[in-house]
Amino acid sequence: MNATAIPVRRQFATPQAPASPFPYHPGSLLSVQDLNLEQVSHILARATALENQDPLSRDRILAKRRVALLFYESSTRTRTSFELAAKSLGADTALVSSLSSSIEKGESLKDTGLTLRALGAEAIILRHNSSGAAWLLEEATRLPVLNAGDGMHEHPTQALLDLRTILAHVRPGVETVAEDTLAGVTVTITGDILHSRVARSNMLLLPRLGARVVLCGPKELLPDLAANAGPGISIERNFETALRQSQVMMMLRIQAERLAGLQLDLEEYKAGYQLTGDRLRELAPQAVVLHPGPIIRGLELTAGVADGPQSAILEQVRNGVAIRMAVVERALMTAADVRGTK
Ligand code: CP
Repeated sequence: MNATAIPVRRQFATPQAPASPFPYHPGSLLSVQDLNLEQVSHILARATALENQDPLSRDRILAKRRVALLFYESSTRTRTSFELAAKSLGADTALVSSLSSSIEKGESLKDTGLTLRALGAEAIILRHNSSGAAWLLEEATRLPVLNAGDGMHEHPTQALLDLRTILAHVRPGVETVAEDTLAGVTVTITGDILHSRVARSNMLLLPRLGARVVLCGPKELLPDLAANAGPGISIERNFETALRQSQVMMMLRIQAERLAGLQLDLEEYKAGYQLTGDRLRELAPQAVVLHPGPIIRGLELTAGVADGPQSAILEQVRNGVAIRMAVVERALMTAADVRGTK
């Protein structure tokens, strides 16, 4: 062959998109897609090991390491559990909230991140109202960044703690996950899917373990296009049909702060999609009920369901601390360090 000739197959090959440089830092967690199933299994196993470890020895794992929590949106569960998780491992934490910092004076995310790094932060946990903010912060600081929720995009640690909760109910004792771990399990996510980073991260994670994910809600909150989100994902508009098929019911809050003028008839919504005790008893008496919180009692679910025997909502909250201990440890320790703590 002539030295300059290009093989026909290469001439017409579709150009490949350049490989993403993200995450720059191996300890970052920007998206659930950053993790392969082996890494998911490792996080699940470390969560259990750290939860069971004597607090006095656990306290030495990240003794005096510095973790910054940078929160541009309100949070109860994620912020508190990340802070308790980092402190349980012995780390020092500093909270910067958009309402009481120089962010109010117009300081950019990049400059805030660089300032935190200059102050000695070794990892940053970020919640932000803009999708993609965690990527921008990681690029600017090159520190490990843990995405604690970016706009309507992702909430990867929520998906991991949801997975831990689901496994405890449908596959008790299983921590090493594979492509068929959740085969035969239907998870229905109901409510404001359009605005939900929790739904998105779960949709990106659960089908990879073989789960069937059914999305349920009115068109205003769940566009038809969502059915094309990926393999294992479908739409069922009829809530009662979805309930009948489900082992896991994940209910979502209507995110009034993101509706941007969209009018929704709440009485109509409740008639169609509220999870009531009667519906649950009659159509899915064995299903486990999840909700990422905050819950609005009397809207997406009744108080009786929230407090009832099928609810695992507070279990999710508890799992948040264990999962976030594992994720903070991963952010600050090399693989060799982690092996040494086992
Ligand atoms: N699940 C969740 O993100 O709750 P918070 O907004 O209270 O952190």
